[in-house]
Amino acid sequence: MKQKILITGGAGYIGSHTAVALVHAGFEPIILDNFCTSEKSAITGLSKIIGFTPIVIEGDCNDPQVIESVFTNHEIQGIIHFAAFKAVGESTKLPLKYYHNNIGSLVLLLQSMEKFGVKNLVFSSSCTVYGEPKILPATEDTPRQDAESPYGNTKKICEDILVDVTKSQKGNKIISLRYFNPIGAHPSSEIGELPIGVPANLVPFITQTAIGKRERLTIFGDDYDTLDGTCVRDYIHVMDLADAHVKALSYLAKQEDNFFDILNVGTGNGNTVLEVVKTFEKVSGQNLNYQIGPRRPGDVVKTWASTEKITRVLGWKPQFTLEDSLRDAWNWELKLAKR
Ligand code: NAD
Ligand code: UD1
Repeated sequence: MKQKILITGGAGYIGSHTAVALVHAGFEPIILDNFCTSEKSAITGLSKIIGFTPIVIEGDCNDPQVIESVFTNHEIQGIIHFAAFKAVGESTKLPLKYYHNNIGSLVLLLQSMEKFGVKNLVFSSSCTVYGEPKILPATEDTPRQDAESPYGNTKKICEDILVDVTKSQKGNKIISLRYFNPIGAHPSSEIGELPIGVPANLVPFITQTAIGKRERLTIFGDDYDTLDGTCVRDYIHVMDLADAHVKALSYLAKQEDNFFDILNVGTGNGNTVLEVVKTFEKVSGQNLNYQIGPRRPGDVVKTWASTEKITRVLGWKPQFTLEDSLRDAWNWELKLAKR
């Protein structure tokens, strides 16, 4: 029988792509989402890719009754916990909204896992916990720094909660994946990123500018100590990230009880903002309207992942290039324009 995997936030950007990867790996996804930052169209899109409509429960991960009924009605064997708010700027204005949703939902899930004897959990963390790494690439042992935002702090606190729960010997098996910068879309263009309002992230801002939704991209600073003066990030295709979740779940199943580990998910390469812009122009055939503006307060100058550990532990390696990611992001934007 197929293993049932609860995907909280499974209608969101990374969750919907991971649902596809899970199905292709032989798992049965059970999606729990309240659609607070996603659209039902994501379910339609992913159903087209996998060839059937998965089980979708519309509900809040912070609602004990919802969680109770999910665990009662489905024999859940593992959980991937994506559901969270992620808008860094908003989190500085509404910190309690972030602490409530991001931390509250994890605590409730862990309580329910104990009650229903579910052991395996993959948690969505972020490279934001490293801040500006002193030595690059960032390894999993790179010290975490004080968070720049309440959002970043929720990821640190959640990781601390997972460590404490593991130490309490309740039998859990947990992996925290620290994502670098997920970009791109499923190559079919049936699902992709759906930013709310004006995108804060680089790639959706680029594609929205190229399609004409935004007038021009402002590059936040070109006087940093980098190759061309613009900031460096590790951009990872969302399907490679999705695959890392599948491999993490399979790996957890083989571990002894009371297991916790942290893995970076990036490509191991850093690219500047200008390199991303130039690569986008190449793969899309579009001339991007952009200007150089002031630095964005709080921006990390350079970060990219060491992938040594995830390759050694999971046998995972990224399959997509930056060109692939930007091509898929552009094709997704073209698809959205036809809606
Ligand atoms: P997203 O906003 O596209 O998806 C989150 C999903 O969770 C949405 O479908 C939303 O409706 C749902 N959700 C939120 N709160 C919920 C609740 N209380 N109950 C039920 N559903 C709820 O975001 P994403 O980019 O897919 O991010 C997924 C996870 O990965 C988040 O935890 C995020 O912090 C983390 N992460 C994302 C990035 C990134 O750049 N996208 C980077 C690092 C970490
Ligand atoms: C953002 C989040 C971070 C999260 C990460 C991965 C902020 C402050 N931080 O960081 O918490 O973990 O995404 O999802 O939002 N850029 C421009 N012009 C733009 C937009 C971005 O030049 O209009 C530049 C930025 O300065 C940065 C790069 O593009 O150098 C990437 O930016 P972004 O997509 O926001 O990701 P992060 O800065 O890594």
